[in-house]
Amino acid sequence: MKVGIDMTTKLTVLISGGTSGVGLAIAKSFAKLGADLTLIGRQPQKAQAAASRLAALPGHPTVSTLLGDLSDPTTNQQLAQAFLATHDHLDVLVNSAGTLPTSGDENISVNLQSHYWLTHHLTPALAQAAVPRVFVITGAPLAIKLAPINEGQRTTLARGAWLFDA
Ligand SMILES: NC(=O)c1ccc[n+]([C@@H]2O[C@H](COP(=O)([O-])OP(=O)(O)OC[C@H]3O[C@@H](n4cnc5c(N)ncnc54)[C@H](OP(=O)(O)O)[C@@H]3O)[C@@H](O)[C@H]2O)c1
Repeated sequence: MKVGIDMTTKLTVLISGGTSGVGLAIAKSFAKLGADLTLIGRQPQKAQAAASRLAALPGHPTVSTLLGDLSDPTTNQQLAQAFLATHDHLDVLVNSAGTLPTSGDENISVNLQSHYWLTHHLTPALAQAAVPRVFVITGAPLAIKLAPINEGQRTTLARGAWLFDA
């Protein structure tokens, strides 16, 4: 059974949140391997700057960007469709778009549902890869413990019960 990522072929890689932070750091590693990279973010100038930096790295990667809010279910699907329109397979999906949430709803929609939806919509392309890989970059354990991460933690009492139990 193959357990590693095959570095000898040109990998097709999509990184949500690949325009900064953890996602950009991961993108740099794949860029140096000459991957076909697609980055998703919301801010056009930031995305363009990241794409230019990555394209200049050794390895001669192909870098493209898709822009939109992944926490919006319609936009999330449109972004996946835009990728599927230009790629017949996806070797590696890195879900790294994320934020430090200011509410439980924001945490659920940005840090959880957006990953689930994007992975779901991209399943047809992942299914065409020889060894598809899906990664989710998420918050520090303390942040997870303090922020609501599911709809059952909306009230103080429910959160208290969850923290006590965790
Ligand atoms: N940094 C760390 O040390 C660290 C440690 C552990 C875990 N993490 C986790 O890693 C994840 C990313 O953190 P980070 O530090 O890399 O954050 P960051 O530097 O702020 O980058 C966030 C990335 O996600 C994109 N993004 C955010 N919300 C989005 C949305 N609704 N739709 C589309 N794109 C969106 C941003 O693009 P735009 O700016 O264009 O929206 C950006 O590319 C978070 O879940 C965080 O909890 C980070």
